[in-house]
Amino acid sequence: MNQEKPDLPQLKEDLIAAIEVATSLDALDAVRVHALGKSGVITGLLKTLGGMAPEQRTEEAPKIQALRNDITGALAGKKAELEREELEARLATEKQDMTLPVRERPTGSVHPVGQVMDELAEIFADLGFAVATGPEIEDDWHNFTALNIPPSHPARAEHDTFYFGEDRTDEKGRPMMLRTHTSPVQIRTMTSQKPPIYIIAPGRTYRSDSDATHTPMFHQIEGLVIDRGITMGHLKWTLETFLKAFFERGDVTLRFRPGYFPFTEPSAEIDVGYSVDEKGRTVIGGAEKWMEVLGSGMVNRRVIEACGLDPDVWQGFAFGTGVDRLAMLKYGMDDLRAFFDGDLRWLRHYGFSAFDVPTLSGGVGA
Ligand code: DAH
Repeated sequence: MNQEKPDLPQLKEDLIAAIEVATSLDALDAVRVHALGKSGVITGLLKTLGGMAPEQRTEEAPKIQALRNDITGALAGKKAELEREELEARLATEKQDMTLPVRERPTGSVHPVGQVMDELAEIFADLGFAVATGPEIEDDWHNFTALNIPPSHPARAEHDTFYFGEDRTDEKGRPMMLRTHTSPVQIRTMTSQKPPIYIIAPGRTYRSDSDATHTPMFHQIEGLVIDRGITMGHLKWTLETFLKAFFERGDVTLRFRPGYFPFTEPSAEIDVGYSVDEKGRTVIGGAEKWMEVLGSGMVNRRVIEACGLDPDVWQGFAFGTGVDRLAMLKYGMDDLRAFFDGDLRWLRHYGFSAFDVPTLSGGVGA
Protein backbone atom coordinates (compact mmCIF):
# COMPACT_ATOMS: atom_id res chain seq x y z
CA MET A 1 0.00 0.00 0.00
CA ASN A 2 1.20 3.46 -0.75
CA GLN A 3 2.32 4.88 2.56
CA GLU A 4 3.08 8.30 1.12
CA LYS A 5 0.54 10.81 2.39
CA PRO A 6 -1.48 12.00 -0.58
CA ASP A 7 -1.56 15.72 -1.25
CA LEU A 8 -5.33 16.16 -1.37
CA PRO A 9 -5.40 19.93 -2.08
CA GLN A 10 -3.03 19.40 -4.99
CA LEU A 11 -5.06 16.49 -6.33
CA LYS A 12 -8.22 18.58 -6.10
CA GLU A 13 -6.57 21.46 -7.92
CA ASP A 14 -5.39 19.14 -10.72
CA LEU A 15 -8.77 17.50 -11.14
CA ILE A 16 -10.66 20.81 -11.11
CA ALA A 17 -8.25 22.13 -13.73
CA ALA A 18 -8.81 19.05 -15.90
CA ILE A 19 -12.57 19.51 -15.57
CA GLU A 20 -12.30 23.18 -16.50
CA VAL A 21 -10.39 22.53 -19.73
CA ALA A 22 -12.63 19.73 -20.94
CA THR A 23 -14.27 20.99 -24.14
CA SER A 24 -16.52 18.04 -24.88
CA LEU A 25 -18.74 15.62 -22.99
CA ASP A 26 -16.39 12.78 -23.96
CA ALA A 27 -13.35 14.59 -22.58
CA LEU A 28 -15.24 15.35 -19.39
CA ASP A 29 -16.23 11.73 -19.00
CA ALA A 30 -12.58 10.71 -19.30
CA VAL A 31 -11.83 12.96 -16.29
CA ARG A 32 -14.69 11.36 -14.36
CA VAL A 33 -13.34 7.87 -15.05
CA HIS A 34 -9.84 9.00 -14.07
CA ALA A 35 -11.12 10.34 -10.71
CA LEU A 36 -14.14 8.29 -9.75
CA GLY A 37 -14.07 5.22 -12.02
CA LYS A 38 -13.43 1.72 -10.67
CA SER A 39 -9.70 2.27 -10.59
CA GLY A 40 -9.88 6.05 -10.37
CA VAL A 41 -7.66 8.06 -8.05
CA ILE A 42 -10.38 9.07 -5.58
CA THR A 43 -11.81 5.55 -5.62
CA GLY A 44 -8.30 4.33 -4.74
CA LEU A 45 -8.08 6.79 -1.84
CA LEU A 46 -11.44 5.67 -0.49
CA LYS A 47 -10.18 2.10 -0.55
CA THR A 48 -7.23 3.01 1.70
CA LEU A 49 -9.64 3.99 4.49
CA GLY A 50 -10.28 0.32 5.27
CA GLY A 51 -6.60 -0.30 6.14
CA MET A 52 -6.25 2.70 8.45
CA ALA A 53 -6.20 2.78 12.19
CA PRO A 54 -9.55 4.04 13.55
CA GLU A 55 -8.31 7.45 14.69
CA GLN A 56 -6.47 8.06 11.42
CA ARG A 57 -9.57 7.02 9.50
CA THR A 58 -11.69 9.47 11.52
CA GLU A 59 -9.31 12.18 10.47
CA GLU A 60 -8.81 11.20 6.78
CA ALA A 61 -12.28 9.98 5.82
CA PRO A 62 -14.03 13.38 5.86
CA LYS A 63 -11.25 14.92 3.75
CA ILE A 64 -11.39 12.22 1.09
CA GLN A 65 -15.21 12.23 1.05
CA ALA A 66 -15.23 16.03 0.77
CA LEU A 67 -12.86 15.75 -2.19
CA ARG A 68 -15.12 13.18 -3.82
CA ASN A 69 -18.17 15.44 -3.32
CA ASP A 70 -16.37 18.49 -4.68
CA ILE A 71 -15.23 16.62 -7.79
CA THR A 72 -18.68 15.06 -8.31
CA GLY A 73 -20.24 18.53 -8.08
CA ALA A 74 -17.68 20.08 -10.42
CA LEU A 75 -18.22 17.30 -12.95
CA ALA A 76 -22.03 17.78 -12.85
CA GLY A 77 -21.70 21.54 -13.24
CA LYS A 78 -19.37 21.23 -16.21
CA LYS A 79 -21.56 18.56 -17.79
CA ALA A 80 -24.64 20.81 -17.66
CA GLU A 81 -22.60 23.66 -19.16
CA LEU A 82 -21.29 21.51 -22.04
CA GLU A 83 -24.79 20.14 -22.78
CA ARG A 84 -26.20 23.66 -22.89
CA GLU A 85 -23.44 24.76 -25.26
CA GLU A 86 -24.03 21.76 -27.49
CA LEU A 87 -27.78 22.50 -27.69
CA GLU A 88 -27.14 26.14 -28.45
CA ALA A 89 -24.71 25.23 -31.21
CA ARG A 90 -27.27 22.85 -32.72
CA LEU A 91 -30.07 25.40 -32.57
CA ALA A 92 -27.80 27.96 -34.22
CA THR A 93 -27.00 25.67 -37.17
CA GLU A 94 -30.48 24.15 -37.56
CA LYS A 95 -32.07 27.41 -38.53
CA GLN A 96 -35.32 27.16 -40.49
CA ASP A 97 -36.02 29.73 -43.13
CA MET A 98 -39.79 30.00 -43.24
CA THR A 99 -39.61 32.14 -46.38
CA LEU A 100 -38.14 29.31 -48.50
CA PRO A 101 -40.50 27.73 -51.06
CA VAL A 102 -41.75 24.21 -50.13
CA ARG A 103 -39.50 21.46 -51.38
CA GLU A 104 -42.20 18.79 -51.80
CA ARG A 105 -44.79 19.13 -54.54
CA PRO A 106 -48.28 18.62 -53.11
CA THR A 107 -49.63 15.37 -54.60
CA GLY A 108 -53.35 15.75 -53.88
CA SER A 109 -55.69 16.01 -56.86
CA VAL A 110 -59.36 16.48 -57.61
CA HIS A 111 -61.10 13.20 -58.46
CA PRO A 112 -62.62 13.10 -61.98
CA VAL A 113 -66.09 12.58 -60.45
CA GLY A 114 -65.74 15.77 -58.39
CA GLN A 115 -64.39 17.62 -61.40
CA VAL A 116 -67.28 16.53 -63.63
CA MET A 117 -69.80 17.42 -60.90
CA ASP A 118 -68.27 20.91 -60.78
CA GLU A 119 -68.45 21.12 -64.58
CA LEU A 120 -72.13 20.14 -64.54
CA ALA A 121 -72.95 22.62 -61.77
CA GLU A 122 -71.18 25.36 -63.74
CA ILE A 123 -73.03 24.59 -66.98
CA PHE A 124 -76.46 24.43 -65.31
CA ALA A 125 -75.85 27.43 -63.06
CA ASP A 126 -75.35 29.41 -66.25
CA LEU A 127 -78.79 28.24 -67.43
CA GLY A 128 -80.37 29.36 -64.15
CA PHE A 129 -80.50 26.01 -62.32
CA ALA A 130 -79.85 25.74 -58.57
CA VAL A 131 -78.20 22.72 -56.92
CA ALA A 132 -80.54 20.63 -54.70
CA THR A 133 -79.66 17.70 -52.44
CA GLY A 134 -81.45 14.90 -50.61
CA PRO A 135 -80.58 12.11 -48.17
CA GLU A 136 -78.77 8.97 -49.33
CA ILE A 137 -80.89 6.89 -46.93
CA GLU A 138 -84.38 7.15 -48.39
CA ASP A 139 -87.86 5.93 -47.59
CA ASP A 140 -90.08 3.95 -49.91
CA TRP A 141 -92.37 6.87 -50.75
CA HIS A 142 -89.67 9.26 -51.98
CA ASN A 143 -87.55 6.66 -53.78
CA PHE A 144 -90.46 4.79 -55.44
CA THR A 145 -94.13 5.46 -54.70
CA ALA A 146 -94.23 9.22 -55.28
CA LEU A 147 -92.30 8.65 -58.52
CA ASN A 148 -95.20 6.54 -59.77
CA ILE A 149 -93.49 3.27 -58.89
CA PRO A 150 -96.08 1.64 -56.58
CA PRO A 151 -95.15 -1.49 -54.54
CA SER A 152 -96.14 -3.96 -57.26
CA HIS A 153 -94.42 -2.07 -60.09
CA PRO A 154 -91.90 -4.13 -62.10
CA ALA A 155 -89.46 -1.17 -62.20
CA ARG A 156 -88.68 -1.89 -58.54
CA ALA A 157 -87.16 -5.22 -59.51
CA GLU A 158 -84.70 -3.46 -61.86
CA HIS A 159 -83.33 -1.30 -59.10
CA ASP A 160 -81.38 -3.99 -57.13
CA THR A 161 -82.14 -2.07 -53.98
CA PHE A 162 -80.09 -2.23 -50.79
CA TYR A 163 -82.67 -2.35 -47.99
CA PHE A 164 -82.05 -1.79 -44.31
CA GLY A 165 -83.28 -4.37 -41.81
CA GLU A 166 -86.41 -4.21 -39.71
CA ASP A 167 -84.82 -1.83 -37.25
CA ARG A 168 -84.75 0.95 -39.85
CA THR A 169 -88.21 1.54 -41.30
CA ASP A 170 -90.33 4.49 -42.41
CA GLU A 171 -93.48 5.57 -40.54
CA LYS A 172 -95.52 2.96 -42.44
CA GLY A 173 -93.17 0.20 -41.28
CA ARG A 174 -91.54 -0.25 -44.69
CA PRO A 175 -87.79 -0.76 -44.67
CA MET A 176 -85.58 2.25 -45.46
CA MET A 177 -83.13 1.89 -48.33
CA LEU A 178 -80.05 3.42 -49.92
CA ARG A 179 -81.51 5.58 -52.69
CA THR A 180 -81.26 3.81 -56.05
CA HIS A 181 -81.33 7.04 -58.06
CA THR A 182 -81.30 10.81 -57.54
CA SER A 183 -84.95 11.08 -58.70
CA PRO A 184 -86.29 11.22 -55.08
CA VAL A 185 -84.69 14.69 -54.91
CA GLN A 186 -87.35 15.74 -57.47
CA ILE A 187 -90.00 14.79 -54.91
CA ARG A 188 -88.19 16.41 -52.01
CA THR A 189 -87.84 19.65 -53.97
CA MET A 190 -91.43 19.77 -55.22
CA THR A 191 -92.78 19.13 -51.70
CA SER A 192 -90.55 21.70 -50.02
CA GLN A 193 -90.50 24.65 -52.40
CA LYS A 194 -92.95 26.44 -54.63
CA PRO A 195 -92.62 26.41 -58.41
CA PRO A 196 -91.13 27.65 -60.63
CA ILE A 197 -88.38 25.07 -59.96
CA TYR A 198 -85.15 24.79 -61.90
CA ILE A 199 -82.75 22.42 -60.16
CA ILE A 200 -80.07 19.83 -60.69
CA ALA A 201 -79.34 17.22 -58.01
CA PRO A 202 -75.96 15.52 -58.20
CA GLY A 203 -75.11 12.82 -55.66
CA ARG A 204 -74.32 9.28 -54.63
CA THR A 205 -76.67 6.43 -55.52
CA TYR A 206 -76.55 2.71 -54.72
CA ARG A 207 -77.46 -0.56 -56.40
CA SER A 208 -76.41 -4.12 -55.71
CA ASP A 209 -74.43 -4.51 -58.92
CA SER A 210 -70.74 -4.80 -59.77
CA ASP A 211 -68.77 -5.22 -63.00
CA ALA A 212 -66.56 -3.07 -65.28
CA THR A 213 -69.34 -0.53 -65.81
CA HIS A 214 -71.30 -0.91 -62.53
CA THR A 215 -70.23 -0.33 -58.96
CA PRO A 216 -72.51 -0.69 -55.89
CA MET A 217 -72.06 3.04 -55.24
CA PHE A 218 -72.13 5.37 -58.21
CA HIS A 219 -73.05 8.96 -59.01
CA GLN A 220 -76.04 10.40 -60.77
CA ILE A 221 -77.24 13.83 -61.65
CA GLU A 222 -80.90 14.66 -61.85
CA GLY A 223 -82.49 17.67 -63.49
CA LEU A 224 -85.97 19.03 -62.86
CA VAL A 225 -87.88 21.95 -64.29
CA ILE A 226 -91.40 22.80 -63.09
CA ASP A 227 -93.01 25.93 -64.48
CA ARG A 228 -95.99 27.06 -66.50
CA GLY A 229 -96.20 26.07 -70.15
CA ILE A 230 -93.10 23.88 -70.25
CA THR A 231 -92.92 21.69 -73.36
CA MET A 232 -90.69 19.03 -74.82
CA GLY A 233 -89.04 21.77 -76.89
CA HIS A 234 -87.60 23.24 -73.69
CA LEU A 235 -86.31 19.81 -72.71
CA LYS A 236 -84.64 19.31 -76.09
CA TRP A 237 -82.97 22.72 -76.11
CA THR A 238 -81.73 22.35 -72.52
CA LEU A 239 -80.16 18.93 -73.07
CA GLU A 240 -78.60 19.96 -76.38
CA THR A 241 -77.10 23.06 -74.80
CA PHE A 242 -75.87 21.04 -71.83
CA LEU A 243 -74.21 18.28 -73.89
CA LYS A 244 -72.54 20.76 -76.26
CA ALA A 245 -71.09 22.67 -73.31
CA PHE A 246 -70.05 19.48 -71.53
CA PHE A 247 -68.27 17.88 -74.49
CA GLU A 248 -67.04 21.31 -75.57
CA ARG A 249 -68.00 20.95 -79.19
CA GLY A 250 -70.77 22.51 -81.21
CA ASP A 251 -71.16 19.47 -83.46
CA VAL A 252 -72.53 17.10 -80.83
CA THR A 253 -75.27 15.05 -82.49
CA LEU A 254 -78.23 13.84 -80.45
CA ARG A 255 -80.87 11.23 -81.09
CA PHE A 256 -84.09 11.26 -79.09
CA ARG A 257 -85.58 7.78 -78.81
CA PRO A 258 -88.94 7.00 -77.23
CA GLY A 259 -88.36 5.40 -73.84
CA TYR A 260 -90.22 4.49 -70.72
CA PHE A 261 -89.81 5.72 -67.16
CA PRO A 262 -92.67 5.60 -64.66
CA PHE A 263 -92.09 9.20 -63.54
CA THR A 264 -92.11 10.79 -67.01
CA GLU A 265 -94.72 10.70 -69.75
CA PRO A 266 -93.75 10.79 -72.53
CA SER A 267 -90.19 9.63 -71.90
CA ALA A 268 -87.17 9.86 -74.15
CA GLU A 269 -83.79 8.24 -74.09
CA ILE A 270 -81.05 10.39 -75.50
CA ASP A 271 -78.15 9.03 -77.49
CA VAL A 272 -74.97 10.85 -78.46
CA GLY A 273 -73.36 10.13 -81.81
CA TYR A 274 -69.72 9.04 -81.85
CA SER A 275 -67.08 7.18 -83.80
CA VAL A 276 -63.98 5.25 -82.85
CA ASP A 277 -60.61 6.49 -84.16
CA GLU A 278 -57.73 4.29 -85.36
CA LYS A 279 -56.29 4.19 -81.83
CA GLY A 280 -59.56 2.85 -80.47
CA ARG A 281 -60.55 6.11 -78.81
CA THR A 282 -64.11 7.37 -78.67
CA VAL A 283 -64.64 10.58 -80.66
CA ILE A 284 -67.89 12.42 -79.91
CA GLY A 285 -69.79 13.70 -82.96
CA GLY A 286 -71.20 12.31 -86.19
CA ALA A 287 -73.85 9.66 -86.58
CA GLU A 288 -71.79 6.52 -87.12
CA LYS A 289 -72.55 4.96 -83.73
CA TRP A 290 -74.92 5.90 -80.93
CA MET A 291 -74.54 5.67 -77.21
CA GLU A 292 -77.23 6.27 -74.63
CA VAL A 293 -76.30 9.06 -72.22
CA LEU A 294 -79.50 10.35 -70.62
CA GLY A 295 -82.99 9.37 -69.54
CA SER A 296 -85.58 12.12 -69.69
CA GLY A 297 -89.17 13.09 -70.26
CA MET A 298 -92.06 15.32 -69.30
CA VAL A 299 -92.80 14.96 -65.59
CA ASN A 300 -95.73 12.56 -65.19
CA ARG A 301 -98.98 14.24 -63.98
CA ARG A 302 -99.21 11.65 -61.25
CA VAL A 303 -95.82 12.74 -59.85
CA ILE A 304 -96.84 16.41 -59.89
CA GLU A 305 -100.08 15.45 -58.13
CA ALA A 306 -98.31 13.28 -55.55
CA CYS A 307 -96.30 16.37 -54.58
CA GLY A 308 -99.50 18.37 -54.00
CA LEU A 309 -99.28 20.51 -57.15
CA ASP A 310 -101.95 20.98 -59.81
CA PRO A 311 -100.73 19.35 -63.06
CA ASP A 312 -103.10 21.54 -65.08
CA VAL A 313 -101.14 24.58 -63.90
CA TRP A 314 -97.62 23.21 -63.52
CA GLN A 315 -95.71 21.18 -66.08
CA GLY A 316 -92.12 20.32 -66.43
CA PHE A 317 -89.39 18.03 -67.62
CA ALA A 318 -86.85 15.87 -65.88
CA PHE A 319 -83.67 14.07 -66.82
CA GLY A 320 -81.13 11.85 -65.18
CA THR A 321 -77.78 10.33 -65.99
CA GLY A 322 -74.69 8.70 -64.50
CA VAL A 323 -71.92 11.14 -63.61
CA ASP A 324 -69.26 8.41 -63.61
CA ARG A 325 -70.30 7.39 -67.11
CA LEU A 326 -70.07 10.98 -68.32
CA ALA A 327 -66.59 11.23 -66.80
CA MET A 328 -65.50 7.96 -68.46
CA LEU A 329 -66.76 9.19 -71.81
CA LYS A 330 -65.19 12.62 -71.62
CA TYR A 331 -61.83 11.66 -70.13
CA GLY A 332 -61.37 8.20 -71.67
CA MET A 333 -61.40 5.85 -68.68
CA ASP A 334 -62.61 2.33 -69.36
CA ASP A 335 -63.06 0.65 -65.97
CA LEU A 336 -65.48 2.19 -63.51
CA ARG A 337 -64.17 0.12 -60.58
CA ALA A 338 -60.83 2.00 -60.75
CA PHE A 339 -62.73 5.17 -59.79
CA PHE A 340 -63.14 3.91 -56.26
CA ASP A 341 -59.97 1.85 -55.68
CA GLY A 342 -58.00 4.78 -54.28
CA ASP A 343 -54.94 3.78 -56.37
CA LEU A 344 -52.57 6.76 -56.18
CA ARG A 345 -51.16 6.13 -59.65
CA TRP A 346 -54.67 6.28 -61.15
CA LEU A 347 -55.51 9.39 -59.15
CA ARG A 348 -52.30 11.14 -60.25
CA HIS A 349 -52.98 10.24 -63.86
CA TYR A 350 -56.67 11.11 -64.07
CA GLY A 351 -56.91 13.64 -61.21
CA PHE A 352 -57.22 17.39 -61.77
CA SER A 353 -55.33 20.25 -60.23
CA ALA A 354 -57.25 22.10 -57.54
CA PHE A 355 -56.61 25.23 -59.62
CA ASP A 356 -58.43 23.70 -62.57
CA VAL A 357 -61.79 25.21 -61.64
CA PRO A 358 -64.31 24.72 -64.45
CA THR A 359 -65.71 27.99 -65.77
CA LEU A 360 -67.71 28.64 -68.90
CA SER A 361 -65.42 31.45 -69.95
CA GLY A 362 -62.23 29.44 -69.36
CA GLY A 363 -63.68 26.15 -70.60
CA VAL A 364 -65.34 23.47 -68.50
CA GLY A 365 -62.90 20.84 -69.71
CA ALA A 366 -59.32 20.41 -68.57
N1 DAH B 1 -83.87 7.66 -62.36
C1 DAH B 1 -83.53 7.02 -63.61
C2 DAH B 1 -82.55 5.89 -63.34
O1 DAH B 1 -81.90 5.89 -62.36
C3 DAH B 1 -82.90 8.01 -64.55
C4 DAH B 1 -83.88 9.01 -65.05
C5 DAH B 1 -84.60 8.78 -66.22
C6 DAH B 1 -84.13 10.17 -64.36
C7 DAH B 1 -85.51 9.67 -66.69
C8 DAH B 1 -85.04 11.11 -64.83
C9 DAH B 1 -85.73 10.83 -66.01
O2 DAH B 1 -85.29 12.23 -64.19
O3 DAH B 1 -86.65 11.72 -66.46
O4 DAH B 1 -82.45 4.99 -64.12
